[in-house]
Amino acid sequence: MRPPALVQAAAPAELSAALADEVAASLRSALAARGRAVLAVSGGSTPAALYRILADTELDWDRVTVVLVDERWVDPGQAGSNETFVHETLLQGRAAHAVFVGLKTAHAAPTDAAPERAHAVAEALAGAPIDVAVLGLGADGHTASWFPHADGLEAALAADAPLVAAIRAAPSAVTGAHLDRLTLTLPALRDARQSIIMITGPEKRRAYEAALDELNAVADMPVRALLAATGATVSTRWAP
Ligand code: 6PG
Repeated sequence: MRPPALVQAAAPAELSAALADEVAASLRSALAARGRAVLAVSGGSTPAALYRILADTELDWDRVTVVLVDERWVDPGQAGSNETFVHETLLQGRAAHAVFVGLKTAHAAPTDAAPERAHAVAEALAGAPIDVAVLGLGADGHTASWFPHADGLEAALAADAPLVAAIRAAPSAVTGAHLDRLTLTLPALRDARQSIIMITGPEKRRAYEAALDELNAVADMPVRALLAATGATVSTRWAP
């Protein structure tokens, strides 16, 4: 398995600008080819500048569906909500016209919500793969909400998993208080036409390189499941 090339930018600002151009070009290509496009977006903090640039990028946003890659089990407006983060950074300006598919519901727990959200994401995809997925990486080797040795991780990484699964992460410095989550699964991201892992700083570069060192030990660094997935189109972009 050839590890995806790590493409380096000079600094985070250049990384965000270059990725905004690339994501916009991929979305325009999907719109031209199929009349619609699906963009899957991660939360966290790294992609904020990228999302703000995309928000004012000229394209037919009303034919773009934005799907959350994962969500902490907090309501919109509460601290840590990825839905709120995406609304405040990406779904502004021109991109406010996109269709948004979130993952947080009124259910008490992600396990209760997973089947309904899997159906909602399947409806949004309408049988087609995600066109572009913007992913992060934690220093622990998680992407999406695929946290090391988490409850639900094996099911989320199964080759025949539904599109959305519930995760209960083991507490760590990376998870913070947000242990209960919903996440897109390996099939959802493996089949994406383009997945971009966006990382900055030395710690995450070391995590990415450690992930490549031993692609088989998936539970230890679950991003490995995507990096090693046959047919996945993954590239990793890094800035100091
Ligand atoms: C989340 C994210 C998660 C994120 C990584 C990196 O809910 O936390 O979706 O997968 O992409 O944890 O987060 P940072 O960009 O904040 O380092």
